[in-house]
Amino acid sequence: MANFDVLVIGGGPGGYLCAERAAQGGFNTALIEKGNLGGTCLNEGCVPTKSLLYCAKQYATAVHGKDYGFTASDVKYDHAAVIARKERVVKKLVAGVGASMKGNHVTVYKGEGVIKGRNPEKGYDVEVAGEVVTADRLVIATGSVVAVPPIPGVKEGLASGFIVTSREFLSMKELPKEMVAIGGGVIGLEMACYLATVGVKVTVVEMMPKIAGPTDADICDNLMKTYQKDYGMKFELSAKVKEVKADSVVFEDKDGKTVELKCDKVLLAAGRRANIQGLNVEALGIETNRGAVVTDRHMLTNVPNVYAVGDCNGKLMLAHTAYREAEVAVNHMLGIKDEMKYDNVPSVIYTNPEVASVGLSKAAAEEKGLKVKEVKVPMQLSGRYIAETLRGDGFAKIVYDTERSRIVGVCMVGNYASEMIYGAAMMLETELPLSQLKKIVFPHPTVCEVIREGLFML
Ligand code: NAI
Repeated sequence: MANFDVLVIGGGPGGYLCAERAAQGGFNTALIEKGNLGGTCLNEGCVPTKSLLYCAKQYATAVHGKDYGFTASDVKYDHAAVIARKERVVKKLVAGVGASMKGNHVTVYKGEGVIKGRNPEKGYDVEVAGEVVTADRLVIATGSVVAVPPIPGVKEGLASGFIVTSREFLSMKELPKEMVAIGGGVIGLEMACYLATVGVKVTVVEMMPKIAGPTDADICDNLMKTYQKDYGMKFELSAKVKEVKADSVVFEDKDGKTVELKCDKVLLAAGRRANIQGLNVEALGIETNRGAVVTDRHMLTNVPNVYAVGDCNGKLMLAHTAYREAEVAVNHMLGIKDEMKYDNVPSVIYTNPEVASVGLSKAAAEEKGLKVKEVKVPMQLSGRYIAETLRGDGFAKIVYDTERSRIVGVCMVGNYASEMIYGAAMMLETELPLSQLKKIVFPHPTVCEVIREGLFML
């Protein structure tokens, strides 16, 4: 029987980083993965989506070349070639994770891990591919799966292929002519924007009065207007899907009218849920809440030496959250003082223009009783932004705690936002006072200079 110090179940960002760090910390470590290493993020989420979105962006530049002083003739979008490129990107990165496991001497088991219970002598037993593996410490990192809402026709649509989830979407060999996205959250928006950019007619049906969940309402408006104007995309807000038929989606619109939209593909993007079904967490009495594993600030469950990191704890389903949670868990194992904080985790929507935010909105800060001032800085204040962007209506908002003299939130819409937001996260995390932030020299000309401009407006 194989014995380990640490056994990680799941090889996505949370799981593989945890295994890497545990091995580097001196633990004899194993990892169980039933699919490809890299999990949802690498294989059917973040990375493939970015690969597709980048290709669409290049295509859009070629099509609209006239705006920049050149014309390209006979520009054709070859979706199958784009998918093939995406597969090469994914393969390369998955191989990289494999190499890292090998380099760090992590034993990788291929198969589905099922918890068997406590081992009478040492730690916990997990069965994989007919073998029982024992470890002192367990890390559950089994990720999340698509949430399938109980809407009539959805199960049938998924079975027939008329409805796709993000997974199938990222491998579709052909583009649909007309698509309806159920859900205007992060996945719905990124995928709808991809299709709209390459000429597919898209309607986003979102049951809330705005898209993109908790994202700043001004930013959502800006994004919606861009896609409506530039790509003819349609948004149905406060619209609840009632049924999916063989070739249409039926929803109740904001005025209570029943509308039937014909299309040749439907994207189901109505959320994800923690994936712990079949893992047998009950065998150890691991506490769960609404199907997700409950964890404390060290990523420990209620069972000693059993941790849960990533989407399976349902806290903040983002790959970069999982990375940090993995480090916190390993630090706890090593006795290094550390704890998980979710306040300053940035979030990004990789549309074009990009959307990024960190910390509190003005309303959320006021709800917490903070005295705040907000400034809205047009991206047009950046020379580089004007030089590169003709649309030019992006902006950043900075929320400032006037009593503590600290920045408590930043959000923005406009390109490079995804790369700029970490700077804002650093300002929040380090809690540097405004007087110090103003002394930071920003490179010129860059778009991040709008943040510097904003600091001087406070
Ligand atoms: P989500 O929770 O972000 O959005 C789902 C949307 O669907 C919500 O706005 C909800 O109101 C709407 N909805 C639910 N049922 C509906 C119905 N019957 N009719 C109409 N609208 C309905 O979930 P999403 O987009 O599926 O993403 C799942 C997770 O993956 C999220 O936690 C997200 O943060 C993460 N993710 C992150 C990305 C990033 O960081 N760039 C990219 C993709 C996913």
